[in-house]
Amino acid sequence: MRDLLELAKTARENAYAPYSNFLVGAALLCKNGKVYTGCNVENAAYSPTLCAERVAFGKAISEGEKDFVAIAVVGGKRGGETAPCTPCGVCRQVMGEFCKPDFLICTEGKTYSLQELLPEGFSL
Ligand code: THU
Repeated sequence: MRDLLELAKTARENAYAPYSNFLVGAALLCKNGKVYTGCNVENAAYSPTLCAERVAFGKAISEGEKDFVAIAVVGGKRGGETAPCTPCGVCRQVMGEFCKPDFLICTEGKTYSLQELLPEGFSL
């Protein structure tokens, strides 16, 4: 999981976050061993902003990936240290769409299961 966190840190270098100055990187590990990375991509209208996690999922799903093992997430203010960064509620719901309850969410210092971060999640 340390390797996945390193890939998330590298992805974070491309974060486009001129409004919040909070830079996030994510690295999503598939069952087949492939990793898809993402960074946050902000927008002047704010609500079109994409979180790093959803960028990584969008890349993976659009390449045909279906089985996911874990995602690493790192975040922090521009120019500062990275700190433990847990996914926002929207990203958790997206994870719930594509991942099983034992999917792992790795932050710096702590790893959670999706079940822990999205108990009683909505589904149709
Ligand atoms: N952000 C993420 O990329 N992932 C999260 O899980 C939390 C928030 C981004 C969105 C926005 O660009 C910035 O962090 C501040 O909210």
